[in-house]
Amino acid sequence: MKNLAIESSKEIIREALLQCRALTLELFASIDPEIFCPQAHPEFSPVGWHLGHIAFIESSWILQHLAGLPPMLPQYRRLWTADGLPKEERQNLPPIDVIYDYLNTVRERVLAYLETAPVEKEEKLWHWLVQHESHHNETVSFILSLHACNGKNVTSLVTSQVTKAANSLSPIENDFQTSEMVEIPAGEFEMGSNEVYALDCERLAHRFHLDSYWIDPYPVTCGQYRQFMEAGGYQQRELWSDAGWKWLEANEANEVSRPLYWSDSTDWDDCPVCGVSWYEADAYARFVGKRLPSEAEWEKAASWDARTGTKRLYPWGTDEPSAKTCNHSNSVGHVSPVNVCPDGQSAYGCFDMLGNVWEWTDSWFEGYEGFESFPYTGFSQLYFDRQHRVLRGGSWASRRWVLRCSARNWYNPWVRQILAGFRCAR
Ligand code: AVJ
Ligand code: FE
Repeated sequence: MKNLAIESSKEIIREALLQCRALTLELFASIDPEIFCPQAHPEFSPVGWHLGHIAFIESSWILQHLAGLPPMLPQYRRLWTADGLPKEERQNLPPIDVIYDYLNTVRERVLAYLETAPVEKEEKLWHWLVQHESHHNETVSFILSLHACNGKNVTSLVTSQVTKAANSLSPIENDFQTSEMVEIPAGEFEMGSNEVYALDCERLAHRFHLDSYWIDPYPVTCGQYRQFMEAGGYQQRELWSDAGWKWLEANEANEVSRPLYWSDSTDWDDCPVCGVSWYEADAYARFVGKRLPSEAEWEKAASWDARTGTKRLYPWGTDEPSAKTCNHSNSVGHVSPVNVCPDGQSAYGCFDMLGNVWEWTDSWFEGYEGFESFPYTGFSQLYFDRQHRVLRGGSWASRRWVLRCSARNWYNPWVRQILAGFRCAR
């Protein structure tokens, strides 16, 4: 007799593996082979490397670790592991066909293993694996944007098609440029998650008390940020933290006076500003008499339904993310105006909390009470070093398996990521 609960969790895992992989293949199929191997930037691996790495991780954790099979293609171990070769040495990749072959062979064996696997004992790792592939999809989308910024023709998509997709959604009526902040009353909420798909850094779920505070219903837009630039925000010492001012001074040679990737065109005015470091986000907040939210403040505003006293998986509830709730999964391919996802509203009335841009928070990345690293310390714990600030909410490139109110990301405060913006609190 088959155990129905086990069969259904297997089916969920199989579906997630297949759907996530279909998106990975679609993304890679759109990439010009010319940019498969070269680096877009010295700090990032070539996109082709990510494909091999996805297969390598799947092989290591499922075939070796769970199924007990011997390593596949051990001669490539140093190439595909994250702590192997320096990034500039990852440009000399095997032919694309060989990489696809590797990816497919690993996947065939993984699906065969899944048939008889004791998933009730392994479920967390399988969910982790799908999210690992999702994370690398996001990194690849980001690297493709870097190539595009370098003037490379990266995909077969035409910009006008992309813009059309973004514009097919109609903006919310109220004027987000002048909309009032949302007041979140004092009280406890549930922070983090113990669900089977929750990553190590989201655990353990815990009650958390916050005093009342105010938070912006939308992320800060390019139009709003321009006012900071035009008012000389980059020159006013009093707007900057000590560390932020030091960072500005250290960058004197290539003077920082606007976000990375900034466009002077007003076409982007209603989109969230991106490409700002934590220091710039912090200075902007001071400029408007506000501050950055803590990650707890962000998560409560996004997920807490005070009426029922329950936490929502997504700001809008439990329906899977769609184009009407958030700009995600690379379907638009860049930021969209902050007010085009009316169905994405949280119980407290905040918009655009998932997707579009990751949002800087005031919090250092640390483990919650009861943290246990999974599946290895280098995944999250390595970054509990008070050198990384937490970002929340996911971006236009985040796949649905990594989008949820409790998800956390982290960067050094000086990183100016095209996927990262912010909203303010008070
Ligand atoms: C958690 C998203 C920061 O993409 O670098 C992938 C996830 N770790 N492979 C990343 C990850 C190892 C990680 N982030
Ligand atoms: Fe990885």
